[in-house]
Amino acid sequence: MSNTKNCRVCNNPIEPFMSFGRMPLGNGFRNPNNMSKEYKYEMKVAVCSQCSTFQLIEQPSPEKMFHEEYAFFSGTSIRMQNHFADFSKDILNEIGNDDPFVVEIGSNDGILIGNFAEKGLRHLGIEPSSNVAEVSRKKGINTKVSFFSKKISEEIVDQNGAANAIIAANVICHIPTINDIAEGVSNLLVDDGIFVFEEPYLGDVLDKTTYDQIYDEHVFLFSLNSVNQIFDRVGMEIFRAQRQWTHGGSMRYWISRKGKRAIDESVHKLLENESNQRILETETFIKFKRQCEDQKYKLRSILEDLRAKDKRVVGYGATSKSTTILNYCGIGPEHIEFISDTTPIKQGTVTPGSNIPVRPYSEFQNNYPDYALLFAYNHSKEIMQKESNFEINGGKWIVYVPEVKII
Ligand code: SAH
Ligand code: TYD
Ligand code: ZN
Repeated sequence: MSNTKNCRVCNNPIEPFMSFGRMPLGNGFRNPNNMSKEYKYEMKVAVCSQCSTFQLIEQPSPEKMFHEEYAFFSGTSIRMQNHFADFSKDILNEIGNDDPFVVEIGSNDGILIGNFAEKGLRHLGIEPSSNVAEVSRKKGINTKVSFFSKKISEEIVDQNGAANAIIAANVICHIPTINDIAEGVSNLLVDDGIFVFEEPYLGDVLDKTTYDQIYDEHVFLFSLNSVNQIFDRVGMEIFRAQRQWTHGGSMRYWISRKGKRAIDESVHKLLENESNQRILETETFIKFKRQCEDQKYKLRSILEDLRAKDKRVVGYGATSKSTTILNYCGIGPEHIEFISDTTPIKQGTVTPGSNIPVRPYSEFQNNYPDYALLFAYNHSKEIMQKESNFEINGGKWIVYVPEVKII
């Protein structure tokens, strides 16, 4: 467990502006036949007034979250597969095809680094959760089962040489020892190498009140402001930034050593956006707190109302994000009959903290409920296309992003 009174980036003292209460692990799905005492921590959040980094005060230890039974498999969404294939093309456009060496941090089942392996390019995925790493190895992808760190970067340089590109998605915001990661990245890259990573974007979380992006794994929520300050410490800077639709609103940061690449207009534009959005001001986070409380009230009211009317409500997608919603809003099996999910390892379990059964997708499809609460809203395009029959049969969706409503 890391429990800090000081910013993990710049060591400035930090104070929480909000607590979401005691929380279990976001991916801590449990076997209903083995309900030993559940691990919980208090989910409090702070913003550093010096370097602007949004962070958890307490975070469970990485070994508690990432291990041989990690429940998130990246390959479950077809749109994400396409997204990562495009990501790999963008990388190759930037670094060229002349025998590059590409390293991915947090490669999971190989959804991104696999695109380089398929082309026969030199590649290496770094992935500490051995069950998902095994899936990628079976696809013939070089995978090192380890947490990335400066020390591991030294081993890779010794064994494989320096990298032309390091890539990462939805993992840098998971790693509390962020300064060590920045040093490891700088150490592993060739002189004009690039580090490109994408993560849920703080600007979107504030705009859409997607507070469910806050959970144990996400120790940080980044903005351009904070990322620039983190990499400034190792002589690097953002030279391009691109918004992404993934995970309800993400940002892709392109980073190089200072002066190695012209700073793209996108960086200036997005920094200006952040300033207009007042992303550095305390007031903004006080307003965010009020919006979270308001959203909680509205979602609970709808579910209480449907419960009073004896309507059948089922959840769609047992996401890690949903753990924050369910526990913060006090939603349980009395509101939601079960949550349907396509991930085999989650089926037959109950949700962390809220004990709602997770069932295979067929149970949703074969017996449509009156209402489906869409937890996997980041995949809504893919899901709405797939589920037109649910609506034709009179089913209604409950959504909470960007606002709580029934559609
Ligand atoms: N990149 C994939 C997976 C994201 S989930 C995607 O975008 O879909 C985060 C992954 O990072 C998990 O598989 C987890 O095991 C891994 N991870 C966590 N901490 C890590 C670290 N310090 N170094 C490398 N990988 C890490
Ligand atoms: P996701 O929102 O990608 O991640 P997180 O856990 O980071 O919040 O998780 C999507 C979950 O939804 C995953 O458990 C798989 C499931 N899912 C379905 O059940 N059906 C679908 O059609 C899709 C796209 C996902
Ligand atoms: Zn700081």
